[in-house]
Amino acid sequence: MMTVKTTDKNQEYLKLDDLHVNPVLSRCARIVVERAKGSFVYDMNGDAYLDFTTGIAVNNVGHCHPKVVEAVQKQAGQLMHTSVTTHHKPYIDLCKKIAEIAPGRLDSCFLANSGAEAVEGAVKMARYITGRPAIVNFRGSFHGRTMMTTALTTSKLVYREKYEPFPGSIYTMPFPYVYRSSFRNNVEACVEHCLHEIEMMFKQLVHPEQVAAFLVEPVQGEGGYVPAPASFLKGLREIADKHGILLIIDEVQTGFGRTGKMFAIEHYGVEPDIMLMAKGIAGGMPISGFISRRELTQKWQPGRHGSTFGGNPVSCAAALATIDVLQSEKLAERSAKLGKEMMDRLSKLVGKNPHVGEVRGLGMMIGVELNEKDGSPSHDLAEAVAAKCFENKLLVLTCGSHGHVLRLIPPLNISDEEAKQGLDILENAINQVCK
Ligand SMILES: Cc1ncc(COP(=O)(O)O)c(C=O)c1O
Repeated sequence: MMTVKTTDKNQEYLKLDDLHVNPVLSRCARIVVERAKGSFVYDMNGDAYLDFTTGIAVNNVGHCHPKVVEAVQKQAGQLMHTSVTTHHKPYIDLCKKIAEIAPGRLDSCFLANSGAEAVEGAVKMARYITGRPAIVNFRGSFHGRTMMTTALTTSKLVYREKYEPFPGSIYTMPFPYVYRSSFRNNVEACVEHCLHEIEMMFKQLVHPEQVAAFLVEPVQGEGGYVPAPASFLKGLREIADKHGILLIIDEVQTGFGRTGKMFAIEHYGVEPDIMLMAKGIAGGMPISGFISRRELTQKWQPGRHGSTFGGNPVSCAAALATIDVLQSEKLAERSAKLGKEMMDRLSKLVGKNPHVGEVRGLGMMIGVELNEKDGSPSHDLAEAVAAKCFENKLLVLTCGSHGHVLRLIPPLNISDEEAKQGLDILENAINQVCK
């Protein structure tokens, strides 16, 4: 994939990786990154790569934002850990801040370490407070890699294969991925079909009074960067209300300005009962959480859930600084504007290049669907385009069940010039590879 230099320090170090790092951990680019700043990461040779991956939608405020770095350094010198033995100020401040920026009446927060843990915690809370066992998830979803979240993940077989038996009472319904459905150009027919399947599930598979929660991503991430149509999420809200089912919105990948609003669900005018967060929350520090309404969380008795490291003071301080940067630099607005410009430019490829099937997304969460000549999803082309970008020093990931979608997730504060540079590389790569 890359040109090996005679004094390639990456290669020397990668030999150690091959010896000592568990090979299950797959990486997209065979470079060893030593430092990063803004929109660029630098490998051990000092070569710069423009980062359209942001560590999978994490570095929304760019790499090593000075305000986040300062907050981390200051907090590390003051208090690093107490766990549940005491309360601490950054935890309380962050929960208060999240309640301020979260949509609707969400006001009561739990902090954990990773996206999967946030999903696990929310599912436990939903089961506990409703007294119902079943969770309904959607085809193409990704919710994590612990056993429960693996069971809830259906974006790709590699995440599930050979891990059965899974925890039970999970019911998987279709998600309106309109482009790959039999309703290609009819969004509403596709949505109607998906909602009808839920009604059928209540007749054939599980009584609605046994369902604790719907768990859904507002824009499917790993599943192919597929925004849910508004009528679908509104429909889910209605069904949930009718049957006393909780609506859990997974904003792990979509949150913190990524889609042009602080949270993607704000595009939809739908209020979740529980909203999950992680990734972009703290500029690269590990922390996650979920927020609900006090009226619901007070039914979850103290001690029924917890975490040793969750809501660590240093990560909380990083999150507070990150949210401050997102707000003061108006990065959600920036994401909406620049994301639209990027999508407008890339959309011109549709029709011009027969392999580019669809360009879609919300804000700066953009997917480019690549097809074979017969219109089937093309894993090979997506891989080849990503490899060509890498040769030209642009990092790009793929997603989708076939690995056929190029996913663009640049920092939200990327400059216009850097965004153009990245798109030039990407467009050239598509035109060279997809002939
Ligand atoms: C929507 C969504 N939920 C949950 C997760 C799991 O997060 P983590 O890898 O931090 O456990 C991810 C990770 O990509 C995600 O995209």
